[in-house]
Amino acid sequence: MIERILPDGVAAAEVFDDPPGVVLFPEEEAHVARAVAKRRAEFTAGRHCARTALAALGFPPVAIPPGEAGSPTWPAGVVGSITHCAGYRAAAVSTDVLSVGIDAEPDLPLPAGVLGTISLAEERETLAGLGEPAGGPHWDRLLFSAKESVYKAWFPLARRWLDFTEALIRIDRDGSFSATLLVPGPRIGGRPLTGFRGRWLADGGLLTTSVTVHR
Ligand SMILES: CC(C)(COP(=O)(O)OP(=O)(O)OC[C@H]1O[C@@H](n2cnc3c(N)ncnc32)[C@H](O)[C@@H]1OP(=O)(O)O)[C@@H](O)C(=O)NCCC(=O)NCCS
Repeated sequence: MIERILPDGVAAAEVFDDPPGVVLFPEEEAHVARAVAKRRAEFTAGRHCARTALAALGFPPVAIPPGEAGSPTWPAGVVGSITHCAGYRAAAVSTDVLSVGIDAEPDLPLPAGVLGTISLAEERETLAGLGEPAGGPHWDRLLFSAKESVYKAWFPLARRWLDFTEALIRIDRDGSFSATLLVPGPRIGGRPLTGFRGRWLADGGLLTTSVTVHR
């Protein structure tokens, strides 16, 4: 599913059930040694997906411990992203692009009160204009997912926090979205990063989003 919204040069792997027998590297194990079963399961399946995607690029199995602010630590020269939600885990990796962020969410409305805290008034107006299709996509959840993908692509480049109100997301029905940064971005190739382009997909009760920053 996720590869449908990723460009050439980005390898992905996904699972809809937790694969049995996945062994963590000691430095990964240390991060979930005292975690509850749900957290351990999603972390382990995420690492499985990450190593599967890396194998598609020719990399041997390596540890991918959580690094700065929880971002995965990839082998030198690799960028990537991991996501997990109920019934879905995925990873995307690349040696071609500058950054990639992926996110998955159940295609369900956000819990009451959440939209107001994660969105800008202008974004809520845009969502209202998209209407409320009976079977989804649930635009409020899609907005949230797009923001998560933006953050996951932003963080490895900027190495700092980006608040939900610091990027203006505009979702289009055609499966794309844009993010305009409302704070100064890092310089990339001599020019400041001012925004992102992303893609989204609703399928099988899931929403997936991706953001790719090309060289
Ligand atoms: C970190 C965050 C993005 C994770 O998203 P989520 O929808 O809660 O959870 P997901 O399952 O999709 O993703 C979790 C994975 O994100 C990755 N991740 C965590 N912190 C990260 C960071 N700083 N940078 C990049 N990736 C990160 C990890 O791989 C993590 O999985 P793991 O711990 O098993 O390795 C989210 O919890 C968060 O802190 N958001 C606040 C910042 C934000 O979204 N700002 C919006 C800007 S417009």
